[in-house]
Amino acid sequence: MSTSTPPSLVACQAISAAELLAEIDREHGVILDAIGVFETARGDELGAAWERIIAYAREHFEHEEQHMGVLAAEVREAHIANHQRIASILEDLTAEIGHPLTKVDRLVRVLRDWLETHIDRHDRLLVDALR
Ligand SMILES: [Fe+2]
Ligand SMILES: [Fe+2]
Repeated sequence: MSTSTPPSLVACQAISAAELLAEIDREHGVILDAIGVFETARGDELGAAWERIIAYAREHFEHEEQHMGVLAAEVREAHIANHQRIASILEDLTAEIGHPLTKVDRLVRVLRDWLETHIDRHDRLLVDALR
């Protein structure tokens, strides 16, 4: 029996990495969409929309962290620390949801700024390493 890697398996691994990258991209899109839903939500819808963002973000962080073995320790730790930071900011902001003086626009800006900066500084390094 040959011990060389069959070409189909190599192709599979390549697709698998590509699929993972596509999945990470898709998840970013889902979080962005959830932020968009929160932005247009009113009254009672705000709480559920906010919770959805937190749930998606948590799930996405866990997913990324499962694949961080490809990163150098300090890069991985900085990335995970940034996930933890935003998770704790989201938890803190939860107290504001439903308050009559809550500025939804400000929260949306915080979320979009974070996502953009995080993808640029941290996710990019993960994506490059997985490629
Ligand atoms: Fe990340
Ligand atoms: Fe991400």
